[in-house]
Amino acid sequence: MSDLMEATRAAAAETAPAPATGDPVVIAKGLHKSYDRRRVVLKGVDLTIREGERVALIGSNGSGKSTFLKCLIGLHPISEGEVTTLGEHFTRLPDSAQRSRMRRSTGFVFQKHCLVKRRSVLSNVVHGMLGTEGSWRGFSQSTAPESWRKAALDALAEVNLAGFADSRADALSGGQQQRVAIARALVRRPRLLIADEPAASRDPVSGRDVMALFARLCRQHGITLIFTSHDMAQAREFSDRTVALRAGRIFIDRPSRDITPRDLEEVFDV
Ligand SMILES: Nc1ncnc2c1ncn2[C@@H]1O[C@H](COP(=O)(O)OP(=O)(O)O)[C@@H](O)[C@H]1O
Ligand SMILES: [Mg+2]
Repeated sequence: MSDLMEATRAAAAETAPAPATGDPVVIAKGLHKSYDRRRVVLKGVDLTIREGERVALIGSNGSGKSTFLKCLIGLHPISEGEVTTLGEHFTRLPDSAQRSRMRRSTGFVFQKHCLVKRRSVLSNVVHGMLGTEGSWRGFSQSTAPESWRKAALDALAEVNLAGFADSRADALSGGQQQRVAIARALVRRPRLLIADEPAASRDPVSGRDVMALFARLCRQHGITLIFTSHDMAQAREFSDRTVALRAGRIFIDRPSRDITPRDLEEVFDV
């Protein structure tokens, strides 16, 4: 095979959607969610996401994207319908055993990356080993098992921040802090990564870099990725499948490369 053919084949492999034939990681059936009587945010969402998929969830502000993610991981009670996440089936909220099993295999990244500013970068990443319900009380980087420190250093190297392990988190730029948050989410090698506006940033260039890093690491480790975005160019570039919410329902669900400008007008014009 010529070098050019090989390079073309490699590029195609990188951009080709992962085949959606893996085990279901997330199943939502007839999911309804309201916070109060006045407004139903989700009005019967049916969605199955399989192992290895990278799914962009889009929709206008207030369309329920964050609400949907929170229902999937049991942060908000479901009003009606059912959810199965990583094999844990629940109708209102997962029970505490289900919750801790789910959380052990799920990584989260939010727009506000919530690092502990006065702690070191390494400490922040090691904290990811504790799980999302872990407490800082009684925990310090120096008492963490050596295997956790090693995992955290490896995760930092993956986000190109190996040289910053001992820096205070708040000494880093916004984009670097976002990469620390990615390392913290990936350090436990989750099966599922939930990212709510991970690349929302005032600086579009670093936002794109963050998204590219994310998508690459998820592909490399076979992690299923669900992320919300209001930047359609990024959603298209870094996902295999785009799901659009409108008026509480799934309005579009198709390969990201098939999303047209007309689709977007309809999604965002409510
Ligand atoms: N904790 C909450 N309590 C009451 N209403 C909420 C809460 N969170 C979100 N909402 C409302 O639910 C709707 C969907 O919000 P959200 O899921 O944040 O949308 P998106 O992430 O797509 O912008 C909005 O009308 C918002 O005001
Ligand atoms: Mg949101």
